[in-house]
Amino acid sequence: MNWFQNWMLPKAAATHAGDVDGLYMFIVYLTIFFFFFNGALILYAVRKWRRRSAKEVTPHITHNTKMELIWSIIPLFVVMGIFFWGFKGYVKAWVPPNDSMEIVVTAKKWVWQFEYPDGTRTLNDLHVPLNKPVKLVMHSEDVIHSFFVPSFRLKRDVIPGRYTELWFTPTEPGVQQVFCAEYCGKGHSDMLARIFVDTPEQYETFLREGDEQVRKMPLKDLGKLVYENKGCATCHSLDGTRGQGPSWKGIWGETGKGADGKPYTVDANYIRQSVLQPQAVVVQGFEPIMPTFQGLLREREILGVIEFIKSVK
Ligand code: CUA
Repeated sequence: MNWFQNWMLPKAAATHAGDVDGLYMFIVYLTIFFFFFNGALILYAVRKWRRRSAKEVTPHITHNTKMELIWSIIPLFVVMGIFFWGFKGYVKAWVPPNDSMEIVVTAKKWVWQFEYPDGTRTLNDLHVPLNKPVKLVMHSEDVIHSFFVPSFRLKRDVIPGRYTELWFTPTEPGVQQVFCAEYCGKGHSDMLARIFVDTPEQYETFLREGDEQVRKMPLKDLGKLVYENKGCATCHSLDGTRGQGPSWKGIWGETGKGADGKPYTVDANYIRQSVLQPQAVVVQGFEPIMPTFQGLLREREILGVIEFIKSVK
């Protein structure tokens, strides 16, 4: 057993996560030690110097210079030790290596968008190669969000109007969970993303051809996946309840009037336009807050959404 492994959080999956855990667990054990040490001292004192009779008078002690120095100076050194240990890790965790790959992260209610060096973009799914340093340059399009990867022991606020950075080197292949850790409105708890730590070959394939599942899945299943993972579910329900946007239940084939008074029918073209130019198809009774997914969904994903909407009855 490694005593400095953190058993309270998911397994450490990036380079400096181990440093964070080491210091964290050191403080935990130190605290546990002093809890019992101080508790034992108190019990000892209570028993040894207890009042034995009603007439007993306690000595009047004003201070004890020697003991006061001891209990000030020893903790001072302990705390300084913790500070320098933490500071060393802090510098290491916040200064990215020069050869790190830069990925631009855009947060908006309530999705994470990733843009790779070659211009590829993805929503809520971030692909990174194993054992290569990655630097995230992050900003927000609306309110303050926070990018939190528990297994990397990393969290940083994502702020409108300025860039914040994070870097890591993933050391474990597989999928890591990302949370938004700053309350940002109704869809906050759904603002999730995943980091896929790929082998170099998987990563190359991803850049060239996109997600394997996007290429091979039946359209309807793909549409459902897009609905769940790319932010649709935050505003559009499947059971007829009204959210920020209209429910998808039974919406296929529906007719109505747009905010401009023009009639519309929910068909493939209407859905396609809603996804790419939502402001052009604002419907009466709904706020025009739907973001555009232009450049964020592949053509096949849009076809999937259309098939999926058809199937929600
Ligand atoms: Cu974004 Cu909470």
